Amino acid sequence: MKIKMALAKGRVAEKALETLTAMGYVFPDYSPKSRKLVFTDSTESLSFFLVKSPDVGTYVEKGAADIGIVGRDVLVEHPADVYELLNLDIGKCKMCVAGFPDTEIVYNKKITVGTKYPRIAKDYFNAVDQPADFITINGSVELAPILGLCDCIVDIVESGNTLKENGLVVLKEILPISSRLIVNRVSLKTKSAAIDPIIERFRSAGS
Ligand code: PRP
Repeated sequence: MKIKMALAKGRVAEKALETLTAMGYVFPDYSPKSRKLVFTDSTESLSFFLVKSPDVGTYVEKGAADIGIVGRDVLVEHPADVYELLNLDIGKCKMCVAGFPDTEIVYNKKITVGTKYPRIAKDYFNAVDQPADFITINGSVELAPILGLCDCIVDIVESGNTLKENGLVVLKEILPISSRLIVNRVSLKTKSAAIDPIIERFRSAGS
């Protein structure tokens, strides 16, 4: 039985593919430049496809994929009705409030926050009782405070290079992030003979 896996395009997929290769899976048709959408391993037991990160949970929840790998940031921002089975040791970063070093967040005075993660940002500023307006930005979020669109941003920080190269700093760490292995609720029961060994291999790859 072939198991279908949804991978979040970009850094998560790159790391997940390194792990799959280390586990012995070979995907003969895969190359980062390929325009093919679905890749099957040489034993035809596992196929993967690349989707935008918020879609991983959708594919897995609806059963179009049996398993998926996606960052915790995405699962918190776009909750899906799936089993979150493993915390993989890849894609580690932090969700942070960031801005200029001299950014003064004046409490009780409304600030404007730019982010790809409006839900996470709202939850955080609500929790600290800070009134804020939120502007959703889809990429290069660091640009927004530089151009005066917002006072600060909520975004993921991995190496910190993007902030540094743009004169910004972390003002507050909100949430540790790493990639998660998620599984469709029905597949876990009906395809357990095929899925369990894959989960086990991921578990041992991470330990
Ligand atoms: C992410 C994030 C930051 C950057 C942080 O963006 O939104 O911009 O990576 O990484 P760093 O701390 O290692 O510099 P991504 O590369 O996913 O692209 P995007 O800005 O187009 O969303």
